[in-house]
Amino acid sequence: MAPFKAFRVHTIDGKPVCRFEKLAMDDLDPGAVVIKIAYSAITYKDAMAARGVGKNVRTDRPCVTGVDLSGEVVSSQDPRFAAGDLVAVTNYKLGNDHDGGYAEYARVPGDWIVSLPAGLSLYEAMGLGTSGLTAALALDRVEAAGLTPAAGAVGITGATGGVGSLAVNMFAQRGYKVIAISGKREQEGFLRSIGAQSIIGREEFLADRASLAKPLFAGALDNVGGVYLDRLAAKMQPCGKLAVAGMAVGAEVTTTVLPLILRSIDILGINVSRQLQMKERRRLWERMATDLKPKNLAEISRAIPFEDLDKTMDKFFDASTVGRVVVEVGSKAPVRG
Ligand SMILES: NC(=O)c1ccc[n+]([C@@H]2O[C@H](COP(=O)([O-])OP(=O)(O)OC[C@H]3O[C@@H](n4cnc5c(N)ncnc54)[C@H](OP(=O)(O)O)[C@@H]3O)[C@@H](O)[C@H]2O)c1
Repeated sequence: MAPFKAFRVHTIDGKPVCRFEKLAMDDLDPGAVVIKIAYSAITYKDAMAARGVGKNVRTDRPCVTGVDLSGEVVSSQDPRFAAGDLVAVTNYKLGNDHDGGYAEYARVPGDWIVSLPAGLSLYEAMGLGTSGLTAALALDRVEAAGLTPAAGAVGITGATGGVGSLAVNMFAQRGYKVIAISGKREQEGFLRSIGAQSIIGREEFLADRASLAKPLFAGALDNVGGVYLDRLAAKMQPCGKLAVAGMAVGAEVTTTVLPLILRSIDILGINVSRQLQMKERRRLWERMATDLKPKNLAEISRAIPFEDLDKTMDKFFDASTVGRVVVEVGSKAPVRG
């Protein structure tokens, strides 16, 4: 096979150096299934890996980053997959300790692969990817804990982000009244177009510092962490269901236990990495292809050429991205499905 294009992070003198380069198949980490990648995406985690924030990418040797990929199986030593299968892979070690989605080919273990469900194209699969899975798991878990649209509104922080915007759309189409919490007032039109019934700006949301604030939310999804989680907890209705997925402002939280105890709040940790069993992962992908498929996926996701990958990463740190960024790695057109 001819050399193919890849975007790798090298750690040189403790700092990340990203570059496009040509690789041979044997340069990739081994795996039973070879996939020709059509699309990948950019998540906050990919931006962190590219810019050396946190320690989420291996440093002892270069790594093709990209925690998400979709594509077509080229060859397989795993009997569960065959050439021509359309597949998606998200998380596990992909893109941080195993060569990931930013290359024209990947070799991955069969245990990490989900067959593309009917009803999703390879492009749509990356319009969803890790962000969609996170939103879907949050919705699935709060409903399993008893949340229904009749209970009251759902608050979503980081609402214009990848996870946030997909969650706004998914909850809205399930019949929930969604209140989007966002630092981007200028995106009110976008947030309303994907299902938010109202928007609370960042300053307004943080202004009320009471431990037991006016109860606004029967359910909530926090993508931001820090003080946002504290403010969300304080605004939950009695018996509210609060899903915690992100830490865009950091991992530390200072809060009080008062609303959690006095209002009997359920806190649900959301993790779509290895903890999410394959059986559950497949079930959620099926839901994302059917009842949870975001009606506004085409507006929420946008494609960038592979070449624009590096310069797009920085937009994740100044929080200027909106929706989900899909990377055209090997194909500009949705292939099949
Ligand atoms: N638990 C899991 O399994 C899992 C999976 C995927 C992602 N995550 C985490 O979930 C979070 C969101 O991921 P994402 O891919 O949606 O990221 P993203 O696209 O970068 O969106 C994050 C959003 O959070 C808000 N935000 C960012 N920086 C902020 C700041 N300093 N202060 C206040 N708000 C800020 C912004 O929304 P507004 O401008 O609208 O406020 C931003 O668009 C990240 O922390 C990510 O690591 C967790």
